[in-house]
Amino acid sequence: MEAQRTLVEQCRALVEGPVPAYVPIVRGGGRMRVRMLCLGRHWNGKTYAYEPVRSDFDGLPAPPLPENLRALANGAARTAGMALDADLCILNYYDADGRMGLHQDKDESERSLEAGLPVVSVSVGDTAKFMFGGVRRRDPAETVLLESGDAFVFGGPARLRYHGVTRILPETAPRELQIAGRFNLTFRQYDL
Ligand code: SIN
Ligand code: MN
Repeated sequence: MEAQRTLVEQCRALVEGPVPAYVPIVRGGGRMRVRMLCLGRHWNGKTYAYEPVRSDFDGLPAPPLPENLRALANGAARTAGMALDADLCILNYYDADGRMGLHQDKDESERSLEAGLPVVSVSVGDTAKFMFGGVRRRDPAETVLLESGDAFVFGGPARLRYHGVTRILPETAPRELQIAGRFNLTFRQYDL
């Protein structure tokens, strides 16, 4: 719980920091249902490509990936039996109405995807109803509840499985955290 509290504080400081989180408008004009902040590299919601600065929003550089977060992700991957040297993180804040449509994480380098280097997802705050499907959009999806403090690692043959968040279960965060909503951090390794 102490580690979760520290993580919540760090996420808050980041999303309210000098390069604040924002609500991306994606290709096609839709507003995402999260507040997003990319660390290490910026993911551009208009081009679906990574870049050093937020050219789809305010031109500010993506803040660096903090060393303690990188270590957290690499350790979680190791625990799951996978090697990862994370170089970027997408930090998302979901309020009670937050969600994310079914998608694949496939914008990292070809070599990284081919190697099946994992995505490490860490959640704190309210529980999310997470869908984990197959490698084709039409494949059936299982529902996984991601609770505060959970890490979810998908790599190897699962690296390109479709996933999304259908809803947030409000007021499910541990009281001690004093948080409404959910922070989710997804770590990836762009380069080999
Ligand atoms: C994502 O797929 O980028 C986020 C998943 C989550 O919020 O659990
Ligand atoms: Mn994803």
